[in-house]
Amino acid sequence: MSIFGVLTGGGDCPGLNAAIRAAARGLMARDHDVVGIRDGWRGLADAEMLPLTRRAVAGILPRGGTILGTSGYDPFREESGVQKLLDMSRSLGLEGVVAIGGEGTLGIAHRLHVEHGFPVVGVPKTIDNDLAGTDVTIGFDTAVHVCTDAIDRLHTTAESHNRVMVIEVMGRNTGWIAAASGIAGGADVILTPEAPAAIEDVCDHIRRRHDDGKDFSIVVVAEGYQLTRRSGEQDAAVVQDLDAYGYARLGGIGRVVADEITRHTEFETRVTVLGHVQRGGTPTARDRLLATRLGLKAAELAAAGAWGRMAAVRGDEILDVSLEEATRARRTVPREWIDAGRIVA
Ligand code: F6P
Repeated sequence: MSIFGVLTGGGDCPGLNAAIRAAARGLMARDHDVVGIRDGWRGLADAEMLPLTRRAVAGILPRGGTILGTSGYDPFREESGVQKLLDMSRSLGLEGVVAIGGEGTLGIAHRLHVEHGFPVVGVPKTIDNDLAGTDVTIGFDTAVHVCTDAIDRLHTTAESHNRVMVIEVMGRNTGWIAAASGIAGGADVILTPEAPAAIEDVCDHIRRRHDDGKDFSIVVVAEGYQLTRRSGEQDAAVVQDLDAYGYARLGGIGRVVADEITRHTEFETRVTVLGHVQRGGTPTARDRLLATRLGLKAAELAAAGAWGRMAAVRGDEILDVSLEEATRARRTVPREWIDAGRIVA
């Protein structure tokens, strides 16, 4: 019998608790003890733990957020952070750690593993859905569901008032949420960081719709879209400020796009920023199922000592890939999705 730790790092998302529960129960089923590490990698450096007993993980499956807390703490950016973390892990007698996170958290896991031989396996989560090595990440489905519902609701006001409704969704570096919810919600324009349409073309498209008798338009924009002009000129992403760990906090491109549309077309615009609403609340059934299957796979990998691996999904198969593959490059929205959004609009 050994002791394993479980942590969640980076932004919270629906399905984290389902993954914690599955990883813990998968390890318990193999007669291991499990402890929860508080607030991501910080909790390991500071030895802040809680026992993850069968009872502690009971009833958490449908709950949003994470019972362990989370943070963007990066031991590689803190003085003696890595050494502290390695010492603590050793003194706590941890056999290994299941790290549930996105590119930041799993990038740290990968470095700890290759540079220090740290025993860790990963579980992919992020509403942004931009991790490589897996078809989909925990939290994405719920975020898309929330955004699609919001687009449906905003359609009614757009139609009634002949307005251009601009909806800003999350997606720092990739436009997965914008593309998926935009297609599912029937958006007229979808703006993503990886295929940034020129604002003049967007305005022409909206004007053409109005000329054809459609007096309203729905524009979905990912927060990481950089305002682009036909000349090829591109503004920097709109940053609000820095977070506690020095990372840029994006937000505000919706307003910029709406102002440009008003300036070029004189149509009335309104902006809705969905913000953290899309990251909150109960996970969809699909996210619960995915989180459960990935959490169980991570338990299997950890129990087998398959360090440096990440549980992943390809098609309907749960398998494992290296953390190196998962964090090497971001997975961007395929051209086919971008074209689909444009053709049906
Ligand atoms: O990475 C997930 C994400 O939701 C991004 O889409 C967004 O830019 C960021 O987290 C927001 O982070 P925070 O909750 O720290 O503001």
